[in-house]
Amino acid sequence: MNRTSAARSKPRSLANLAPDDVKSTVDGYTDIYDAGLERRKEHYRSFVNRYYDLVTDFYEFGWGQSFHFAPRRRGESFKASLLRHQHFLAERLSLKPGMRVLDVGCGVGGPMGNLARHSGASFVGINNNAYQIERAKLHTQDVQSLCRFIHGDYMQIPEEDDRYDAAIAIESMPHAPDKTDAFREVLRVLRPGACFAGYDWCLTEKFDSANAEHLRIKNDIMVGDALPDIASTSEVSAALQTAGFELLEARDRAPDADPEMPWYRALQGRDLSLSSIPRTPVGRALTNLTLRVGERLRLFPEGSREVCTLLNAAAYALVDGGRSGVFTPMFFFLARKPGPPRD
Ligand SMILES: C[S@@+](CC[C@H](N)C(=O)[O-])C[C@H]1O[C@@H](n2cnc3c(N)ncnc32)[C@H](O)[C@@H]1O
Repeated sequence: MNRTSAARSKPRSLANLAPDDVKSTVDGYTDIYDAGLERRKEHYRSFVNRYYDLVTDFYEFGWGQSFHFAPRRRGESFKASLLRHQHFLAERLSLKPGMRVLDVGCGVGGPMGNLARHSGASFVGINNNAYQIERAKLHTQDVQSLCRFIHGDYMQIPEEDDRYDAAIAIESMPHAPDKTDAFREVLRVLRPGACFAGYDWCLTEKFDSANAEHLRIKNDIMVGDALPDIASTSEVSAALQTAGFELLEARDRAPDADPEMPWYRALQGRDLSLSSIPRTPVGRALTNLTLRVGERLRLFPEGSREVCTLLNAAAYALVDGGRSGVFTPMFFFLARKPGPPRD
């Protein structure tokens, strides 16, 4: 085989994985999941890292650069609702130029870039996934003077105590092996009087652990989204307080959506536009089919379709969780580190 035909037959890969590593990464990921709660907690770094190595390209393709949900208003576009959900945090934290803000689990930098542009505050994003950090630098180039990144674990933030004027965590805390420890670490790096705001994924009061369908929904969300477990809203509030925060506000923002525009609508296929297609059931089935054919033709690495299947199952479970009201991805919290604010 000459070099040209070898290059042509080399499948396109995912993230920074070599094509031959995709299948073993999927298998390694599902092995950790299947080994149970303790193993998922113990190996949380590789569990989460493998997951984001596999799914980041799919997320960017189907969702964009902000990896979270949002309550939508009637007539509001999906993109505008994401931005408004981010701005809500900026307002609650009174972000402004000169403030130093930590974005805990910053993804590929979508929210951080938007909030830097919106508020003029300076951001540091911490993320344990190297590929996402690369992507985040790219997506925040226009505000690079306001955005810096740390490739690291938010369970052990490599920063001094009392350093930040505010912190945000948008749907990144669901991956924490221990919520209280994670919140304690954020508290440590905040200056006294500074606030932490974010959205967490939670089981609501409607969740019944004796209900087989509720348990099925919970399990499908966990396996499809690299979660060791899912806490209830009251457990998240309690963990913030046990960590040492003063809880100023805590509530589910899902009811803020127009009843016709629930947060899970984006996954249902009720919005018809070219850009929304990859998020819908039909678009997801098409992607799956393309990958199946693509794997046979060696256009995509073996294992790509398994990743897509995993994400599809999670998408159905998220819709079921939202419709039944047993799950929310937008439990909002605003918490303050006790102590007198610095001038
Ligand atoms: C659902 S994504 C949300 C990303 C981003 N906040 C956003 O809204 O676009 C969760 C993020 O948390 C990061 N993450 C999970 N566990 C982490 C850990 N222990 N340390 C640092 N980042 C972590 C993941 O790599 C991922 O980027």
